Amino acid sequence: PPLDQLVGLPDFDAAARRHMSTQNYTYYRNGAAGEWSYRNNLEVFNRYVLKPKTMVDVTNIESTLPTTILGHNFSAPFFISPCARGGYGNVDGEKGLVEGAAAGDILYMPAIYASLTIEDIATYKTDDQVTFQQVYLDGNDTATQLIFDRIQKSNSKAIVFTIDSAADGNRHRAARYGVGSADSSYTLITWDLYDHLRTMTDLPIILKGIQTVEDAQAAVEHGVPAIYLSNHGGRQIDGARSAFEVAIEIHQKAPEVFSQLEVYADGGVRYGADVVKMLALGVKAVGLGRPFMYANVYGTEGVTRAIEMLKHEVAIDAANAGIADLHKIDTSVVS
Ligand code: FNR
Repeated sequence: PPLDQLVGLPDFDAAARRHMSTQNYTYYRNGAAGEWSYRNNLEVFNRYVLKPKTMVDVTNIESTLPTTILGHNFSAPFFISPCARGGYGNVDGEKGLVEGAAAGDILYMPAIYASLTIEDIATYKTDDQVTFQQVYLDGNDTATQLIFDRIQKSNSKAIVFTIDSAADGNRHRAARYGVGSADSSYTLITWDLYDHLRTMTDLPIILKGIQTVEDAQAAVEHGVPAIYLSNHGGRQIDGARSAFEVAIEIHQKAPEVFSQLEVYADGGVRYGADVVKMLALGVKAVGLGRPFMYANVYGTEGVTRAIEMLKHEVAIDAANAGIADLHKIDTSVVS
């Protein structure tokens, strides 16, 4: 369907499903095994309600959408999560994601397994566009230094180290269509490795895939500048909690974490209200993976439109929830 007929992020999923080959769509849509974690990521937001406050002047809500992420300014508290293989949805690969992020003035985190190289992605960036580069690392110093050098040259402002993938995910849905197969190789990802990596680059290294309060606290102890709560869109281990539930646990057991480092989170975010609920817990910025991959089927225009839609929804939902300023949101609004 034409872009102007889409009214919300889920419409991009339906459109992409019709447009893409079954194999390629399945790669994006897939979750691990029985896909409980995939479904739970979406459904968890329905188990927590918003409790709107009335009689609040919310007329300036839109002006409170902009935020900083690791000190960089963006127009909204949400970003494009790193997802491999943009080329499955669009012949131009990640071009639409880079350009859409610039047009919408939000953060994009390119994946190391993007269809385009780090260098090609950099050519689509505007001069002052801030991106954070996602990586997988296995402890091989020579390979790591090469990647870090390329990231530095591409003018990325941070490294997003994905730590939830010590092994491949069991992705039955994709395997049925012959897309990817889980092999038996295991990477040792340890705090020692993190401490060592810190000596190899001046760029901040964010940890993506933190899933417990204990790991969040360990990250504070290791001086990690930001953690990124995620179960990888339910693609790694079926049974893993959603980032929203992990954020709730941190809020209950160690709320100080939210002020000791920046906390980002993703998984199942499809509506403005989902973003509002995440922010209410103390999450600084919220990521979306699949919605933007599906939007990229329409290229730059699609991604730009998806960003506009979500900004609009976040502002409207925050206003109706009686939030005057998104920076002063707190848990009293969610239960
Ligand atoms: C991902 N994700 C991911 N994460 C990562 O750290 N490195 C990667 O290469 C990928 N690749 C990838 C491909 C595809 C097609 C998807 C859908 C996801 C996970 C991604 O960063 C993010 O955590 C989830 O997509 C968030 O869930 P939603 O928004 O898709 O529900």
